[in-house]
Amino acid sequence: MTHFLDIATTEPADLRGILDNALAMKRARAGRSKGAPDDDRPLDGRMVALIFEKPSTRTRISFDVGVRQMGGETMVLSGKDMQLGHGETIADTARVLSRYVDLIMIRTFEEATLQEMADYASVPVINGLTNRTHPCQIMADLLTFEEHRGPIAGRKVVWSGDGNNVCASFIQAAGQLGFDLTFTGPATLDPEAVFVEAARAKGATVTIERDPLKAVEGADLVVTDTWVSMHDPQSARERRHNQLRPYQVNERLMAAAKPDALFMHCLPAHRNEEATNAVMDGPHSVIFDEAENRLHAQKAVMRYCLGV
Ligand code: CP
Repeated sequence: MTHFLDIATTEPADLRGILDNALAMKRARAGRSKGAPDDDRPLDGRMVALIFEKPSTRTRISFDVGVRQMGGETMVLSGKDMQLGHGETIADTARVLSRYVDLIMIRTFEEATLQEMADYASVPVINGLTNRTHPCQIMADLLTFEEHRGPIAGRKVVWSGDGNNVCASFIQAAGQLGFDLTFTGPATLDPEAVFVEAARAKGATVTIERDPLKAVEGADLVVTDTWVSMHDPQSARERRHNQLRPYQVNERLMAAAKPDALFMHCLPAHRNEEATNAVMDGPHSVIFDEAENRLHAQKAVMRYCLGV
């Protein structure tokens, strides 16, 4: 059984294979309409369940379109409309779904829910985001960087802001693929130490730098995300904004990075909060390539999981 639960638990060679395959599939489709199927239809006859316990635009649509391009079919399910939201166990849900579908993608709150789904499913399970990690997003980000700038190995990535679930997956990727990652943000919003230590144990240089201007010196890529994540209480909004304002990605910050540094944001964004419009729509920004690459990266993830 090949699940895709985390960047850290997927072998570096497999991550590399997924990225290479994603790029090849993207190139093979160049110029086609979005609804046109791929030449090969590796998911022909396959059914994929897409379960969402949290809102989504990109993940929902990119998985759905990706499955269809590869010849498969999807059912998009809301956790609250399933018995899952009314007391049925994750284990029973996993075993039942495995009798109907060939692949499960789930966006959920707790990592334990994802793990239980994977433990009890007899089909592959893909992590579509938990409160702790977002590996599909990072596969798209790595694909986007490499399309624009070549291999990520040895490059410097700076995460500015909240050390959230997307940041955690970036740190895991640094450990797996050998690039440097600098986190800059307030100490209260540091990424979990366990992610930092694990990446360092794999040989990655992971740096915590409180001064954002110092942090971005020599950066090949600057990344940020919303200051209040889906799982954060809205009551924390004002405090977080006050803490994170110095870490806004604006033209001054980008000017302190390498002249050809890229800017990424997984979206959705709160424009002119974590990043200014001038940066989001400016010459460094690749945010819409990044969003498109969710589609190509996840198609390769699904093929990896299904071995097709
Ligand atoms: N970046 C991302 O996961 O977007 P959605 O929440 O819209 O799926």
